[in-house]
Amino acid sequence: MIRPVIALMLLMLVAPPGAYASAAAPDPLLGSWVFDDPPSYPGVTMMQVERIDGAIRGTLTTRWYGAIAMRDATSDGRTLSFTIRNLNDRGHPTRRWTASVDGGVLHLTGDIWYAHTAQAGRRGSAAEVRARTFHPAGPLPALRAPADDGLARTPPMGWSSWNKFGEHIDDATIRAMADALVTTGLRDAGYIYVNIDDGWQGERDAAGRLQPNARFPDMKALADYVHARGLKLGLYTSPGPRTCAGYVGSYGHVHQDAATFAAWGVDYLKYDLCSGEWFYDDADSVRRVYQEMGAALRASGRPIVYSLCEYGRFDVADWGRAVGGHLWRTTGDITDDYKTMSDIGFVRNPRFPHAGPGGWNDPDMLEVGNGGMSEDEYRTHLTLWAIQAAPLMMGHDLRQTSRTALAMLANREVVAVDQDALGAQGGPLLRSDGLEIWTKPLSGAGQAVALFNRTDAAATISVPESIAAGRLRDLWRGIDVPATTRHFAVPAHGAVLLRTVAG
Ligand code: GLA
Repeated sequence: MIRPVIALMLLMLVAPPGAYASAAAPDPLLGSWVFDDPPSYPGVTMMQVERIDGAIRGTLTTRWYGAIAMRDATSDGRTLSFTIRNLNDRGHPTRRWTASVDGGVLHLTGDIWYAHTAQAGRRGSAAEVRARTFHPAGPLPALRAPADDGLARTPPMGWSSWNKFGEHIDDATIRAMADALVTTGLRDAGYIYVNIDDGWQGERDAAGRLQPNARFPDMKALADYVHARGLKLGLYTSPGPRTCAGYVGSYGHVHQDAATFAAWGVDYLKYDLCSGEWFYDDADSVRRVYQEMGAALRASGRPIVYSLCEYGRFDVADWGRAVGGHLWRTTGDITDDYKTMSDIGFVRNPRFPHAGPGGWNDPDMLEVGNGGMSEDEYRTHLTLWAIQAAPLMMGHDLRQTSRTALAMLANREVVAVDQDALGAQGGPLLRSDGLEIWTKPLSGAGQAVALFNRTDAAATISVPESIAAGRLRDLWRGIDVPATTRHFAVPAHGAVLLRTVAG
């Protein structure tokens, strides 16, 4: 009885780190198995199984979530069965997986979140095991609020690649967008950030430095190109090992990546939780991991606007500023349809207070110009974002900006409501049967008043004296309305944006 235990201990002493001993039991499933070319999600690269005091223990090493522990593992000598935590799906918090060996080939099957995995593996050599071994990142730093750095006094404005291009982006497209910001006049209307979202990343070099992929041959040169046009460059990464689209994230390389971004000349960073939610899944750890990058950006010595993207979890608006954030997403992803846009704009974002100079609630990027909504619906989209002092990040192909979209996006008076120096986030004052009146205090004594018709039929909305006495200016039409006019025709799904006129 003692012999196998000693043999196992000896084997563990001589085995390389992460190599699991298989000699102690006849079970053919024990040991380290590797998978060549795994499907991208969750990307199981290795399975390791051992028997300790009669109990089977093991891990699946994945590209997205590092080493996932097997739970409740049992083996009948032919089939290994176990469950894993299934974090993304609260309705199904665990999932059952099985593994069996046939002719020296390991067959692994199971589900996680939306993906079914069926992979064939083989026994791994010590070197293969070493190469796949996951190294957990060090402990997160204690919370310590940074001093105000003076950035983002008004909500950031610009363009981001994600809504239109997804991960299909390259250096030439980004340069073309920078050019189009200038030629359309949108830069001069205030849209100055050119943000590269997910899809630019390559692999790390031998020193661990993150490299762009082949579609971005020289990130510093691209930053120089953008800067030469009076614009600023944004980039994207994740606190997890993988970004949402499956590219390499900043897990274990936070300070190194912040320094790399600063050296390239990056002015804005979107930090998207994604696979990080596996590791950071409560209020404290999420807050700390966002602070870790916030502190790293400060330490980089370059002023970098910091955009938190963790979908509004754990009341982010309460602590976004305290971790160095200048804006924080309050919702899941926008899509180019009225239902999603209006749910985000009317319902979700208003739940978060605390916006103001230096720190903004971010209901996600604009869809204006992408074609999925009517002109009235896009007017509602922009009106909602402006009255809530939301960041204005365009998300369409700027080279194909229609005259209608351009007129909306470049409307100086609407942009001025969004960018008002007071930085107040407006909100609803009256809501009745799908008709709503929202107000936003402005610097100076005035205010903006938005009228929304969320119904499917045209309606008239009246502005009561109690909300805005005196004269009003219609910002979408660019006219002062006659002093006696208090009733406004608002089309189905449409909006009117007014501001009070002094005197
Ligand atoms: C998440 C974010 C999006 C976008 C994608 C990129 O879904 O919420 O805004 O950045 O990831 O993969």
